[in-house]
Order: sequence, then C-alpha cells, then structure tokens
Amino acid sequence: MSIHIGAREGDIAESILLPGDPLRAKFVAEKFLENPVQYTSIRNILGYTGTYKGKRISVQGTGMGIPSISIYVNELFQEYGVKRAIRIGTAGSLNENVQLRELVLAMSACTDSNANNVRFGNRNFAPTATFSLLKTAWDIAVSKGWQPKVGTVLSSDMFYGENPDDWKLWSKFGCLAVEMECAELYTLAAKYKREALCILTISDSLVTNESTSAEERQNTFTRMMETALETAIS
Ligand code: HPA
Repeated sequence: MSIHIGAREGDIAESILLPGDPLRAKFVAEKFLENPVQYTSIRNILGYTGTYKGKRISVQGTGMGIPSISIYVNELFQEYGVKRAIRIGTAGSLNENVQLRELVLAMSACTDSNANNVRFGNRNFAPTATFSLLKTAWDIAVSKGWQPKVGTVLSSDMFYGENPDDWKLWSKFGCLAVEMECAELYTLAAKYKREALCILTISDSLVTNESTSAEERQNTFTRMMETALETAIS
C-alpha cells in the first residue's frame, strides 16, 4: 500500500488516464467507464478502476505541477505496476498556429522546472513521448476527423511568473503550448521503462489572450477523452 494512493496491489489497471483535476477523474469514471470502483480518496485525489469497451482501465487525478504528478506517477509505476499512463489536460497556446479548442499531442516536453537538474546534474535529459502511443493517438484522432497538432510543449513550474514575456522564448523555439506536468511524466516513464503520452486541449492562448468558455471546454474535453480512452485500450 503506497503512501499517497493507499490502494491495494491489483486495484489499479495497467493502463491509466491522468487528469490534473480529481473531479475530472470522477467525471470520466462515471461518464465513460463501466462499473467504476473508487480505489483512493486520500487528499481528495480521486482514483477509479473500471472497464472501457470491456478492457480494464483506471483514471486518477494527479494534482497540478511537477512535484504533485511526480508523487503519484512514482507510486503508480513502482507499487502498482502501471504500464501505460496517458495524461489528459488543458494547456495554453504559445503558437499562433495553435488555436483554442485544438488537440495537442506532446511529442516531447521542455521545462523550466529544476526537477531534472536535481536528477541529472549538469546534463540535460530530453523527456519524450512513447512513439507507439503517439502514433496510435494520432491515427485515432485523424480517423475521427480531428487533426491534432504534434510537437514539443513547455512544462512550466510557474503559472503566475515574474516576467509576463517569458513564454515568448519558448514560442520562438517552436513550443506549441504550456502546461505543468508532462516533462515529469515522460521522465518517469523513461526511468521505469513504461509508456506515456500527454494529450492536451487548448483552453487559453498566451498569444491572443483568449480563453474558452466552460461549455466549449466540455466539448473539446470529449474529443480528448475519446482519443485517450481508445489509445489506452489499443
Ligand atoms: N499555463 C500553464 N498551464 C496551463 C495554462 C497556462 O496558461 N493553461 C492551461 N494549463
């Protein structure tokens, strides 16, 4: 039984979806999974296991930011044998070609976090998605008529930073969008030899300062979920 999840061995499926928001995990479990059973509520980080099209799958919140997702993903990989982890989340566009409500598949993740400096010292690791998952998600999304953007994202530690123009450097180097967890998920997947992918929807834009309404977020969320669920059971 792990410290922060506290579930029993076997309670969690080999494939898991990881939204930041625990209430989103609850929503996904109740709306998309058959026979969901809640396996954790420690700190209100809700986790459920059920089936999707007959295949066992879990969904659990991670909280926001690298330290939080790091705790949960370490426990999922080390203590519960999770083999495939798909983060589903929102991101802010850093690129004029990435519009509100678009789907983004994170091929890799840059970061301003110090976590990998602590791990690697004066060496840079390149957090990268698992190609087979990336390709599967791409194929599924395209077959449904959605054309995701694929590229690198920024996993930032600072939602409220000091310099409002910081994002422009990442944008200049081709970063598509900013979120707060992907780099750590990919790094841990590499460490434990597991599969990982981040599927994001654009909820706001640092380029245009626009943001989506709650209703619009719900619609795009469904596209992201269908892509993630189909990829998870592939
Ligand atoms: N910054 C960081 N994370 C985010 C953002 C953002 O602008 N939008 C959605 N997640």
